[in-house]
Amino acid sequence: MAQTLRWLLRPISFLESCRRRFGGTFSVRFLGFQTPMVMLSDPEAIRALYGNPEHRLPPGRTFALLPILGPRSLLLLEGRDHLARRRLMLPPFHGERMRAYESTVREVVARDVETWPDGEPFAVHPRMQSVTLEVILRAVFGVTDPERRTRLADRVARLLADTASIGLQLGVLLSRRFGAPDPLTRLQALRLQIDAMLDVEIAERRADPREDILSMLVAARFEGGEPMDDAEIRDQLMTLLLAGHETTATGLAWTVDLLVRHPAVLERLVADVDAGEQAYLRAVVTESLRLRPVVPLAGRRLAAPLRVDGHVLPAGTDVTPAIWLAHTRADRYPEPFAFRPERFLASAPATSSWVPFGGGVRRCIGAAFAEMEMRVALAEILRRRSLRAASRSAERVARRNVTFSPAGGTRVIAVARDPVAASGDGDRVRR
Ligand code: HEM
Repeated sequence: MAQTLRWLLRPISFLESCRRRFGGTFSVRFLGFQTPMVMLSDPEAIRALYGNPEHRLPPGRTFALLPILGPRSLLLLEGRDHLARRRLMLPPFHGERMRAYESTVREVVARDVETWPDGEPFAVHPRMQSVTLEVILRAVFGVTDPERRTRLADRVARLLADTASIGLQLGVLLSRRFGAPDPLTRLQALRLQIDAMLDVEIAERRADPREDILSMLVAARFEGGEPMDDAEIRDQLMTLLLAGHETTATGLAWTVDLLVRHPAVLERLVADVDAGEQAYLRAVVTESLRLRPVVPLAGRRLAAPLRVDGHVLPAGTDVTPAIWLAHTRADRYPEPFAFRPERFLASAPATSSWVPFGGGVRRCIGAAFAEMEMRVALAEILRRRSLRAASRSAERVARRNVTFSPAGGTRVIAVARDPVAASGDGDRVRR
């Protein structure tokens, strides 16, 4: 119980104290689980873990997400069923298609920024949540009735807010431990309402295919030639809507928090964005996802033994990279706690010591989408507003669903910039 509470309430200090006491590999016993979870941070062990496509999923992911996403969600399937879906769902997220989504991000962010209070403190995280929800809805459903999109956005946001609280997370764990009713079942009514709305969209695409991601899912065929049925498409849509927006919003909020607390980095980034350059912007996003990884764990249940630090973990063990610890190893990242995008200017991160998107055959299919969205959104914000911190201390980490997010919502003060900058024509601006 004590370990679970510390994990829920003070996750980073819990991880750091485990590292100090036990080193890079240790096991944690969470309330409600039969077996402990082994956490590791050694890059070689992470490479070996993610390199074996036979490993399965630990039970935590399934019981936390199944009532919300549905049983056939890509995030929850295993083995051949998983790979077959993954093949169907990857094409819309291929790197080359990202350009098509850039203008959507730019437009949605620009509209939102215009509603920000000028010179008054406000929380950026909720703004980013509504921006990324709107972006993923537009990418998935394309041009659809705006009123319908707003209704769907409201319900999806409510579902997420309802599942976010620590009380609920603890309730779920207690119900597993003591057999009480699972509090997640009360979310079923909301999920049913959302399903009904998704059914309308699916039927429309079947009758009249378009360019959006939903049309691609409807048209996709398994190797045997059969399509996904409607119930499955609903699960995959929920997966994309939920996996695709909360995470990216949180990544953006953390990036803003880091930027406003590192004025030299912010200044350099603004100058680069004004000059229409991308390299430093890319490095800022990579460094932010290193120092503030949004998803703390992306584990596997071993299908075969795994060698770690001279020990052999037997098949059946639940193992996960402790992503925050893997990203702050002094042997991989000099001055590991410093926010220094420069470290990624000359070279891209190594796949075994930079794992914000997990790895191997389950690596996040939206990684390119998320990084594109973060870059385009940041550039658009910085062209339009000068930002500064609204409080003295950096954000504390709080849990929200499966993510680690800024506890105070990232409060900043934004001031409108010279309109020349906002035109985004790449001219350097006097400031
Ligand atoms: C900063 C933003 C994001 C972060 C940090 C993130 C992180 C992750 C992580 C850690 C996993 C588990 C990987 C594993 O087990 O190895 C994952 C899986 C997944 N993510 Fe993301 N994600 C982000 C954005 C997105 C977006 C934008 C989408 C879709 C539009 C998306 C869709 C998915 C899906 C469908 C999976 C399941 C993949 C599979 O099991 O094969 N994610 N993500």
